[in-house]
Amino acid sequence: MSSGLVQAAYIVAALFFIMSLAGLSKQESARSGNYYGITGMAIALIATIFGPDAQGFTWVIIAMVIGASIGIYYAKKVEMTEMPELVAILHSFVGMAAVLVGYNSYIDAPEAATHAEHVIHLVEVFLGVFIGAVTFTGSIVAFGKLRGVISSSPLSIPHKHKWNLAAIVVSVLLLIYFVKADGSMFALIIMTLIAFAFGYHLVASIGGADMPVVVSMLNSYSGWAAAAAGFMLANDLLIVTGALVGSSGAILSYIMCKAMNRSFISVIAGGFGQEVVISTDEEQGEHREITADDVAELLKNSKSVIITPGYGMAVAQAQYPVQDITEKLRSLGIDVRFGIHPVAGRLPGHMNVLLAEAKVPYDIVLEMDEINDDFPETDTVLVIGANDTVNPAALEDPNSPIAGMPVLEVWNAQNVIVFKRSMNTGYAGVQNPLFFKENTSMLFGDAKESVDAISKAL
Ligand code: TAP
Repeated sequence: MSSGLVQAAYIVAALFFIMSLAGLSKQESARSGNYYGITGMAIALIATIFGPDAQGFTWVIIAMVIGASIGIYYAKKVEMTEMPELVAILHSFVGMAAVLVGYNSYIDAPEAATHAEHVIHLVEVFLGVFIGAVTFTGSIVAFGKLRGVISSSPLSIPHKHKWNLAAIVVSVLLLIYFVKADGSMFALIIMTLIAFAFGYHLVASIGGADMPVVVSMLNSYSGWAAAAAGFMLANDLLIVTGALVGSSGAILSYIMCKAMNRSFISVIAGGFGQEVVISTDEEQGEHREITADDVAELLKNSKSVIITPGYGMAVAQAQYPVQDITEKLRSLGIDVRFGIHPVAGRLPGHMNVLLAEAKVPYDIVLEMDEINDDFPETDTVLVIGANDTVNPAALEDPNSPIAGMPVLEVWNAQNVIVFKRSMNTGYAGVQNPLFFKENTSMLFGDAKESVDAISKAL
């Protein structure tokens, strides 16, 4: 393939990636967005492999077969609730790739026509390795936290923000030395070690409830790492793709920050300024229990019902019986709607995907902001496997680790039924005062079994 043809193929692939992002931004068009992405990537791979710069064809094919087999195996095996872990570990690969490309490009530097070009190349290598290394360890820690092998509570070492600042200042000084010394391996290695530690510390300092912002932030970092690799390899498509991922990840992080009422800057700084964390995981009074038959009776006597699902609905796969009772209640003339918190579950849009899968009509599935004012006029709220996203402590307790996060204000309804298996806390590890309110009753058990039982009783 001539280099002109490769460039043309890259432009077409880039257009497909843009169309893919546009498609993925709406539920109805997400499937076609995925197909555009696959097509773009196929074009990009073919153009790269058959392009004039490609060497070691056999090695590339062997690597692709091994990589694709591992990818297909995990994509088939992964549960929906494990998706964020998978995404986090994939981000770490992008980070490591940028580090390796950086070292390779440093050792096997391309011929520079001018001194300025040489300096630019050195800066590209340094920045690419830095961003890649931060992304690598940050993503590994995010993976560990999401999988539960690393504690989800924030690591709080003394003077943590000063350590972060020191890491950045020393890295900048090393960059200046690196360029002045016309490329020093010593400076590059020291900076890489600092960046590894920096990435680890940034993400380890962040508490469980803020993980969604971290995952989208790392998504953005991985895009910039890929763009940096694109500069080092002089590959235009990698630069464009990296910039698309980097900026869309940054926009998603911004949306997440707004939803969680966090400042964008404090996210980048790591730890969100949470210096005071008072553990509130002890129980806070008496709770009442209710049976599935009584819930069915209560529902039949309600005029309006709101269902707020969370991670537990996903674990139990309760979306199908939930759709079942929704249909039954609607056929009785009862107004049923869903209230979706932006970070319910474990990945953006998690609940929307599950409900769409169970064929719940889109028009009764509302965002938190659209439904929050309606709770006072609602007879019954069913909180199905949600916890942090309906926790009044976020609004009432300034010392809570989730203080300031907007939540679904379910407690303003007449009756609240909470479906869960125990009095355990949610992902953020914070006890929920909702469970002890006068108008709340607990329906203990697996969410799917409980909803099935209600469906039978209806
Ligand atoms: P969580 O606060 O995680 O609570 C889920 C609840 O479901 C738990 O308290 C658990 O209680 C219950 N549960 C688990 N399995 C169940 C089952 N089989 N049947 C019935 N209940 C079950 O859920 P949420 O309200 O959706 O909040 C999401 C949390 O995850 C937030 O803190 C958010 O920041 C974080 N997070 C979100 C994302 C994204 S992007 N959405 C990514 C990472 C982290 P029992 O154990 O007592 O049953």
